[in-house]
Amino acid sequence: MSKIDLKDKIIAGYRNVESDKLLGIFGNPIKHTLSPVIHDTISDYYSFNERYIPFEIEDNLGDYVKAAYDLGIIGLNITVPYKEKVIPYLSDIDEDAKKIGAVNTLVRSQNGYKGYNTDMEGLYRSIIEANEDIKDKEIIMLGAGGAARAVAYMCFKYKASKAYIINRSVDKAQRLAEDMNAMDDKSSRFISISSDKYETVPEGRYIFIQCTSVGLKEDDGLPLVTDKEFYKQACFAVDLIYNPAKTAFIKLMEDNNIPAINGLKMLLYQGIIANELWNNTKINNELTAQIYDKLYKKIYG
Ligand code: ATR
Repeated sequence: MSKIDLKDKIIAGYRNVESDKLLGIFGNPIKHTLSPVIHDTISDYYSFNERYIPFEIEDNLGDYVKAAYDLGIIGLNITVPYKEKVIPYLSDIDEDAKKIGAVNTLVRSQNGYKGYNTDMEGLYRSIIEANEDIKDKEIIMLGAGGAARAVAYMCFKYKASKAYIINRSVDKAQRLAEDMNAMDDKSSRFISISSDKYETVPEGRYIFIQCTSVGLKEDDGLPLVTDKEFYKQACFAVDLIYNPAKTAFIKLMEDNNIPAINGLKMLLYQGIIANELWNNTKINNELTAQIYDKLYKKIYG
């Protein structure tokens, strides 16, 4: 194999960045990542002199993780499609990230990188900030893919009383529910439901968490369940999608006067928590608000 050079993978617009303290992100595609906004703003605020660089990685992930370490990179984010695939190349993994089975943050340590999942904590922080909580609540999750796995684990960790996982492919929902229940003394807190059997969910008051990719396109309708009555059972709603700002799911919740948030605060807090790990610091509320403002303007204009 020819010798790899991580610098070849820096995307256009970042090739002339100069700093001896580098942070970065691996993914593909990566052109539209908003993470530099978060981390460069933090660096400027505290005069950390760090720069954050997106790397578009197509293959040889392990070699590039090693190359990042050799280059002295302090911390990395990992995004689609590598959040699971990166795990074999870590020197250590945080217990929560291990249980989720996905890593989005790599923190430099003595022998390599330690992996964390700040998506899950980022989502939790955004829910708490909206004056909601997970403890003892009943949850309806829509979706059972990669993102849903972190959401399900959040429901486990923060002690939801029940979580119904509804998915188009019921086998994936079943697997996710089984994995979560297995951590939990064989409980049956997690229940999988095929989307065409949504009516089997008992009537109740639920926190709805939308984890499918339905809604990303402007003309997408409601995810999985088109029966609008179903959504009236929500007491609070989260859509992990932040662009567009208002999916059909969010619009329906607002029409029903149900408090609802999109995924922008999750994006914000996953970045803040990652940076806190890299710099061993606590980011204050003023800076957090500044970053949110910048992200908001960049996405929604
Ligand atoms: P992510 O990492 O964003 O979670 P993913 O792992 O590909 O992406 O998961 C996408 C989720 O959106 C899955 O729950 C998927 O349902 P399936 O498991 O049945 O594929 C769901 N999804 C995507 N497109 C969908 C569609 N058109 N209708 C219903 N569900 C859809």
